[in-house]
Amino acid sequence: MSELDIIKQKIKEISESYTEDNIGGWITGDGPVPCDILFVGEAPGKTEVEEGKPFVGVAGKNFKSYLELIGLAREDIRITNTCYFRPIKIKETTSGRKSISNRPPKTSEINLFKPILEKEISLVNPKIIITLGNVPLKSLTDFKSIGECHGTLVYNNNLKRYIFPMYHPSALTYNRTEEFKKMYTEDWLKVKEALAKI
Ligand code: URA
Repeated sequence: MSELDIIKQKIKEISESYTEDNIGGWITGDGPVPCDILFVGEAPGKTEVEEGKPFVGVAGKNFKSYLELIGLAREDIRITNTCYFRPIKIKETTSGRKSISNRPPKTSEINLFKPILEKEISLVNPKIIITLGNVPLKSLTDFKSIGECHGTLVYNNNLKRYIFPMYHPSALTYNRTEEFKKMYTEDWLKVKEALAKI
């Protein structure tokens, strides 16, 4: 069994034996191994589980257009998540129908996958890890919030690698101001500069 297959097997085992809360399937990372550029997101949603790949739903469409803006294609990068299963909440409506929605991963769920994410990072051996949103940022670094560090290249002594914190692409859906979009676009252009430097 390859190291990647072992990772996949572990994600499957953890997810299939998880009973603490509701989850709706799981996925692995996607893209070449090794790879110089690793993006780390939060957790998969419905479309990701259906297609078996990270960032292929609405947030993924935004993500892909910004990748292209800086001259990268999906094939040039590896992308994975901090939590490899889809955390969900199930609500029963007054008419008795069930509604399923995403929920943020809990700290305990993030910790469950931490050794797997670390293993994936060591296999991918990236020159830079681009964290998308607060979840991977807090799992991999000591930063408290994306607001304090987005758009800057920092060397992480623990991981012995460069980290570039960015907002999660779904932030564009929550914050539709021109000001936020401009700042987010500038952060991507700074990624391009950082890639030329490292
Ligand atoms: N958002 C994430 O953080 N990860 C995915 O895989 C999809 C959307």
